[in-house]
Amino acid sequence: MKNILVTGGAGFIGSNFVIYMLQKYPEYNIIVYDKLTYAGNRDNLLEVSDEPRYHFVKADICDAETVAATISKYDVDTIVNFAAETHVDRSIMDPDAFIQTSVYGTYVLLEATRKFNLERYHQISTDEVYGHIPYGRSSKETDNLEPRSPYAASKASADLMVNAYFVTYGLPVTITRGSNNIGPFQYPEKVVPLFATNAIDYEKLPVYGDGRQTREYQYVIDHCEAIDLVLHKGKLGEIYNIGTGLDMENLTMVEILLKTLDRPRDLLQHVADRPGHDRRYSLDISKIKALGWQPRHSAEEAIIKTAQWYADNEWWWRKIKSGEFKKYYEAQYGARLRDAASE
Ligand code: NAD
Ligand code: DAU
Repeated sequence: MKNILVTGGAGFIGSNFVIYMLQKYPEYNIIVYDKLTYAGNRDNLLEVSDEPRYHFVKADICDAETVAATISKYDVDTIVNFAAETHVDRSIMDPDAFIQTSVYGTYVLLEATRKFNLERYHQISTDEVYGHIPYGRSSKETDNLEPRSPYAASKASADLMVNAYFVTYGLPVTITRGSNNIGPFQYPEKVVPLFATNAIDYEKLPVYGDGRQTREYQYVIDHCEAIDLVLHKGKLGEIYNIGTGLDMENLTMVEILLKTLDRPRDLLQHVADRPGHDRRYSLDISKIKALGWQPRHSAEEAIIKTAQWYADNEWWWRKIKSGEFKKYYEAQYGARLRDAASE
C-alpha cells in the first residue's frame, strides 16, 4: 500500500481520514477524488494543501474514464471509498443522487479495482444498513440487512455489490460499518453540527418527535483509526462494525451540547418526526476490538469536543450556513418549526 485513492475525501470523514493518514504514514501518497457536491469542501483539506504527497482530482466516481485515468496517472494501488450522498433527510426529499453514487458509483470503482488488479478496495459503510434495532440487541456483521430509508438502502446495495465482487472475482475487499460520526468539518445539516451552530446563534434546535431515539455518537478520529487498522490488518472479504458499543438518546446529546455551549434549555423545540425514523441503532463491536482497536472518546467527550470545535471555528461554518443552506433549512424545517410554535 503506497498510493491511496480516497474517494469522497473532501467530505467530513474523508478529509479527517486524509489528514490522519498523511500524518501517520510519511511514505504514503493520498489522491483525493471528489465531485465536490454541496457537502464536499476544500477548506477541510487546507491543512494539507501544501503537502507534496497529497493530490486532488475533482471528478465523479460514476465517471469510469476519469477513474481509470486517475488510477493510471497516480499509480493507485488502493481505493478507500467514502464518496456518497449521506444525509437521510435529503434522501427522503430526493433519492436520485443517492442511488447514482452509492449503487452505480460503487460498481464503477469495483470494476476499476478489477481491471487494474489493485491491492485493496475498502468500502465505508454504515450501521444504518441493519435498520432499526430493538432494545436489548446489537447488530453483528453477519446480521441480515434491513435498511429503511433511501440512504440506508443505497448503502446496503453498495455493500452487497462489494461482497459479490469478493465472491465472484476474488477481489481483495473489506467493509467497515460505522455509527454516527461527529467532529471537525461535518456539514451543519447533521444533527450535532446543526444544533451546535444553531445554539451558538440562540436559534431553536428542532428535535424530531420525542427525541428519545438513540444513536452511537463516535468521535471521527476514532473511526479513522479503526479504518486504518482494517486496511492494514483486516481479513479480506470481511466486514467490521465500528462504534462505541453504547447508544445515547438524542435528548441526552442535546443536554450535553447546551451545557457545553452555555445555552438555555428552552432552545430545544420538538418538531414533526422524520418519516420512517429508525428509533435505535446499536453495534456489536467485539470483532474490531479483537483486531486491536477501541474508541478513545466516550460519546459525551466526543459531543463536548465537537461543540467546542464549532464554537472556535465560525470561519468554517458561517459561510456554509449563509448560502444555499438557507433554502434547504426552510424546506426541511420551516413548516415544522412554525407548526410547533403555533401548538
Ligand atoms: P459527507 O457528505 O460529508 O461527504 C461525502 C463526500 O463525497 C463529499 O465530499 C462529496 O463531494 C463526495 N461525493 C458525493 N458524491 C460523489 C460522487 N458521485 N463522486 C465523487 N465524490 C462524491 O459524508 P461523510 O459524513 O463524511 O460520510 C462519508 C462516508 O462515510 C459515506 O460513505 C457515509 O455513508 C459513511 N458514513 C458516514 C457516517 C457519518 O456519521 N457521517 C457514519 C457511517 C458511515
Ligand atoms: O448511523 C450512521 C449514519 O449517521 C450515517 O450513515 C449517515 O451518513 C449520517 O448522516 C448519520 O445518520 P443519522 O440520520 O443518524 O444522522 P442525523 O445527524 O441526520 O440524525 C441523528 C439523529 O438526530 C437522528 O435520530 C435524527 C435526529 N435529528 C436529526 C436532525 C438533522 C433531529 O432530531 N433533528 C434534526 O434536525
